[in-house]
Amino acid sequence: MSDLVRPIGMFDSGFGGLTVARALIDVLPSEDLVYMGDTGRYPYGSKPLEEVREYAVEISAGLVERFDIKLLVVACNTAAAAALDDLADVVDVPIVSVIEPGVQSLIGASPSGRVGVIGTVGTIRSGAYQDAVAAAADVDLTCAACPGFVEFVERGETDSDQVSVLAERLLAPMVEAGIDSLLLGCTHYPFLARTISDAVGRDVTLVSSADETAFAVGRLLEASAKRGRVGRHRFFSSGDVDSFRELGSRFLGPELDAVDPW
Ligand code: DGL
Repeated sequence: MSDLVRPIGMFDSGFGGLTVARALIDVLPSEDLVYMGDTGRYPYGSKPLEEVREYAVEISAGLVERFDIKLLVVACNTAAAAALDDLADVVDVPIVSVIEPGVQSLIGASPSGRVGVIGTVGTIRSGAYQDAVAAAADVDLTCAACPGFVEFVERGETDSDQVSVLAERLLAPMVEAGIDSLLLGCTHYPFLARTISDAVGRDVTLVSSADETAFAVGRLLEASAKRGRVGRHRFFSSGDVDSFRELGSRFLGPELDAVDPW
């Protein structure tokens, strides 16, 4: 099949990767997209990395086999932290993860070099961000895991008092460290941006990897760009497809009008 008609494949444990899908649709409106939300097995962040690696490998191989994708976007930090190296052995298409683009934009956003990264327990424990930031620049990095954030998002509860109380507690180390920029190192977290911003202070710049990831994909696909057509966007879930469509369309927008079982 010609590269012009092959879709971009992407996955996340659930709704989080929709932040990246939104950016991809906006930046590359003519590209076809296949999104898999593994809501049947979410959350990934509290699971052992070996288990997440198995899921990531299985889904990526499925996207290649079933849809002949031309590029894979790992729209989940936890899966990227667990499996990025293994995925390159499993799929024979270019792979873009959210980690590198996020780190680049975090460093670019910080005048003082005092930066923070928040993510799931699995991501922070893996050391993937600590390594990526250390390799990119000499900065003062504070990391914190935020268990519970993803569950609030998956329930569609993004601005309750409970999530605010949790955010204030979990983000206190960021306030103490005096960071000026904070990377949302989990693709679910942009849905909590207002709550997170209230907790760390409005003067802290929040950095999401979604846009930078979409730009990175755009650079890779430049040569095969299909201008003047509207891409087809397909969504799949391993969980309940009706609730994925309902909440997913609230998060992503009208493009998410149908969800098929994975
Ligand atoms: N959205 C995923 C991430 O970026 C993880 C969410 C989960 O714990 O399932 O890490």
